[in-house]
Formats: sequence, structure tokens, C-alpha cells
Amino acid sequence: MSLFLGIESSCDETGAAVVRDDGIVLSDVVQSQVDVHTPFGGVVPELASRDHLRNLGPVVRDALAVARITLHEIDAVAVTHRPGLVGALLVGVQAAKGIAWAAGKPLYGVDHLVGHLLSVFLRRAEDRPSPRPKFPFVCLIASGGHTALYRVDAPHSSRIVELGATRDDAAGEAFDKVGKLLGLGYPGGPQIDALASQGDASAVSFPRPMRHDGSLEFSFSGLKTSVAAYLGREGAPAGRRLADVCASFQSVVTSTLAEKLLRAALRENVGSVVLGGGVAANRELRARVTDLAAERGIAAHLPSPASCTDNAAMIAYAGATRARYEAGDGWDLVATSATVLPRNTRKGRGPR
Ligand code: KG4
Ligand code: ZN
Repeated sequence: MSLFLGIESSCDETGAAVVRDDGIVLSDVVQSQVDVHTPFGGVVPELASRDHLRNLGPVVRDALAVARITLHEIDAVAVTHRPGLVGALLVGVQAAKGIAWAAGKPLYGVDHLVGHLLSVFLRRAEDRPSPRPKFPFVCLIASGGHTALYRVDAPHSSRIVELGATRDDAAGEAFDKVGKLLGLGYPGGPQIDALASQGDASAVSFPRPMRHDGSLEFSFSGLKTSVAAYLGREGAPAGRRLADVCASFQSVVTSTLAEKLLRAALRENVGSVVLGGGVAANRELRARVTDLAAERGIAAHLPSPASCTDNAAMIAYAGATRARYEAGDGWDLVATSATVLPRNTRKGRGPR
């Protein structure tokens, strides 16, 4: 059994984790930068890089301490090197190179999206035992930067195909932008999730973009504009009406995501659907996917909420998976803003 140290710094979370190659999480430390970016209503790239620089050392030290091991007991180092904010990625990549070099361990660069795709295989101490998905499966990644459906035939980037993606905003981006319009602060997703549970989803009728066109693509920017237009007409909501707007918006997003995920699974003739990314922590999305999958006789596999939002445990596990197939990367490992996964959906293409 080998142990991987994972490092994550692609956006606004500084993470380090120690994970066994079978997915058992020994430690997973996440230092959020929310307080740094909140005054600006979104992530400020240079502030993100500087905060990673400040926090990465202590976060790695904590991850080793919680796992009760020393650096020398680690078998390899895995680090997110794409996609993300390049200045933020550089901090993690350079730290990982230094640690791997000093400890004499192999280094594995990991695509952040592959980390999300495989996060369902992580097992935390608090998780209830559950079966792992069998390949092939269809996975929906819905996060702040990405929203796409993938067919995953094997845990390797060459065996992962994009079936459809958003043509404009990511689902998490829509949550965050609508949260900002509602004056909820950043990030809006978890707050809309909490408020929506007290609201009436039929209170406001927002449009359901690309729902009946049979495609596996998404579009969320028009929905955000509809919320802005509604607020312009009706004024800023509070109390019960705020909860109703949250519930109505969230219901459109989660039903669209869940229906397209199940449509993709039926079209691809796979027996399992999987979720990943921060929006996969949303309670309504989890419930909808569970129910729709059960209706269609398909197994639904949902990572625990801590595995959905950005974390280094999924990076460590994806690195361990790469190590089954490949040798480690060289000291010339670069940071880049693009994913290694193939992209078939063009931004802004076609009628809605
Ligand atoms: O995966 P993630 O942590 O970072 C990226 O790779 O983007 O996703 C962050 C996104 C944010 O947009 C946040 O608002 C959203 O995930 N999010 C949620 C929930 N928790 C996080 N959206 C809806 N409901 C939630 N419970
Ligand atoms: Zn992410």
C-alpha cells in the first residue's frame, strides 16, 4: 500500500492531503481563502497566489501531522498542475517539486478535473461504507469553473470523453453570480442551498435553458440574466421571498443538471452515474440525481460533500491512479490554464 501526498492550489483553496492508493484518506487539510476574496465579490488572482504562498507550508505540515507520518514515509507527491489560475498553480507546483526533490520521491502532475472525476473513490473516516462505481460510468462535474458531462472508461485521461459542457457560465458560477445579485456574498452556492430549503420552488418561473433540445450541453448565463431582470422588476427580496427566489433558481439548475446526467447515462448505456465538483455538494442536486437514477435502474455514486469541493485528497488519489500506469513527471513539469481532457463543446455556439 503506498502513500501519496497531494497538493492543491489551482484557485482559492490551499490544500494538502495524505491518501493511500486505495482511496483511504489519512488527512485532508483545506485552507479557504474566502475571507481574502469576499470584499471583491470573486477571486482576485494575484491575492490568491500570495495567499497560497503564505499558507502552503503550514498546510502541508498539518496534513503530515494529522496523518501521523513524516515526509520520508510518503511514497510520492502529486500536485495539481492544470487547469486553473496559472499564478496560483505555480505556487503548488514549485512547492511539490521542492518537497519531492528534498525527500527523493517521484512527482506526479494531476489535472484538477481528473481529480474531481475520481473523487468518488475517496473514503474518509466519517463516510458510510458504499460500493465504488464500476467503469464505464458517466460523470457530471459541476464546479465554479467547469460544468461538463464525461464518459469515463478507465481512470486515465486518454479514456475520458466529454459528452457535453456548458456553452457559457459554469453551474457554480451561476450560483455565485445569482448569490451576488441577491446580496448574499461570495460564494453564493452554499448560501442559496441553505435558503432554498425554506422556499417554494414554484414561486417564480425562470426559463429552463436547452432543457428539451435533446443535447448534453448546458447554458446558464440566460438564467442569471432572468434572475437579474426579475430583481429589477420586483426589487431586492428579503425573508420568505428571498427563500422563494433561491428555491426557484436552484430548482432550474439542479433539474437541468440531473436530467442531462441521466440522459447521458442512458445514451451511453452505462450502469452508473457519478457526481463531482463543488455544486455536487448541493442537497437538491444530490436528491434529484439519487431519485432519477433509482427510477431508471442506474446506480448513483455521490462523493461526500468534503470530497466535492476543492481538496487535495482527490489530487493525491488521482496521482496514485496515474502511478499505476505511468512513471512520474520530470522537474520540468509546467503549470497551465488548460485541462488535458478533450473539449468538444464550443463556448457560445448555436441557438439556445
Ligand atoms: O469544485 P469547487 O470547490 O471549485 C472549483 O473547482 O471551481 O467549486 C466551487 C463552486 C462555487 O461556485 C460554489 O458556490 C459551489 O461550488 N458550491 C455549491 C455548493 N457548495 C459549493 N453550489 C451549490 N450548492 C452547494 N451546496
Ligand atoms: Zn474544482
